[in-house]
Amino acid sequence: MARTVVIKAFGGPEVLELEDRPVSDPGPGQVRIRHHAVGLNFIDVYQRTGVYPLQLPCALGMEAAGVIEAVGDGVTHLKPGDRAAYAAQPPGSYTEARVMPAAQVCPLPDAISFEEGAAMMLKGLTVQYLFHRTVPLKAGDTVLFHAAAGGVGLIACQWAKSEGIRLIATAGSDEKCQMALDHGADAAINYRDGAFAPKVRELTGGRGVDVVMDSVGAATFEGSLDCLRPVGMMISFGNASGMVPPVSLGTLAAKGSLQITRPTLFTHIARHEDCQAMAQHLFGKVTSGAVKIRIDQRFPLDQVADAHRALESRATTGATVLLP
Ligand SMILES: NC(=O)c1ccc[n+]([C@@H]2O[C@H](COP(=O)([O-])OP(=O)(O)OC[C@H]3O[C@@H](n4cnc5c(N)ncnc54)[C@H](OP(=O)(O)O)[C@@H]3O)[C@@H](O)[C@H]2O)c1
Repeated sequence: MARTVVIKAFGGPEVLELEDRPVSDPGPGQVRIRHHAVGLNFIDVYQRTGVYPLQLPCALGMEAAGVIEAVGDGVTHLKPGDRAAYAAQPPGSYTEARVMPAAQVCPLPDAISFEEGAAMMLKGLTVQYLFHRTVPLKAGDTVLFHAAAGGVGLIACQWAKSEGIRLIATAGSDEKCQMALDHGADAAINYRDGAFAPKVRELTGGRGVDVVMDSVGAATFEGSLDCLRPVGMMISFGNASGMVPPVSLGTLAAKGSLQITRPTLFTHIARHEDCQAMAQHLFGKVTSGAVKIRIDQRFPLDQVADAHRALESRATTGATVLLP
């Protein structure tokens, strides 16, 4: 049996319940993994509230690290005793142990701790696809990155620095802005102080940025479009402040032939080979020291509701892990 966080209804943090669930042997293409640490992500909030609906009742969580206990037929990249980490569907990582598809589970280098592994897979693979698989970005390009002191954000600041990309950060307090600067952002704007677009224009000599990476959604979307250079790319990849309302294509023409995309990590890691190659790239960034995984909050698994409250109320910085 494994203590597992489940929801039986959509709602606030109070719908998170712990229950004992049986853990079976893995079938073909599956592994059984015992978790040492579990990653908390904003997608878990969207799933808990029903913004991204799931079939109820269901377990939550998309990211964890631990040790492989058993592998099913056909699994060749992992064996019992291996350290491993993953970002993967279906949800269910908020647990002590589980059986799951093996394809997106990655061998974890010894130099990376379980906590770091649990804190970096979903967030770090997201940064990998944002910077390398979404739009051609090269040294010298300028990116505007919102919520830059968050879990994804602090990895993005360091990743951009390591690639010679100029990252203009936004964050919700002066302390968070300083944190983004300390992690490699070139400039930082506290977007609670008023409109950020004029400040971005000023920082780019009036030209605008090449790319916006916007996971805040409703509150920043319009302003983000106003930060782009002609033919610039808007990457809308989240909705922490609410869903982006429907957009008229004519707006993109009027604001300078803008491009727009709405990606999700799960498209990019769907193929086993892609996922493992992206993970190797991420592990290399971390083991080389170019990217440090900052974990600012740790909660025991049975305090998962407090962890959700902290993330939703913008009280966290960097990554948050749950300890089973
Ligand atoms: N599409 C994908 O593939 C993908 C993959 C991973 C993550 N994401 C998205 O990336 C974002 C970051 O994920 P994360 O797990 O690392 O979370 P996070 O950045 O650690 O936390 C979210 C941050 O969003 C900011 N925010 C702005 N308005 C907010 C509001 N009304 N309510 C709550 N937060 C607000 C807050 O920072 P400030 O106080 O600085 O504003 C908050 O700390 C999320 O939107 C997530 O859904 C998307």
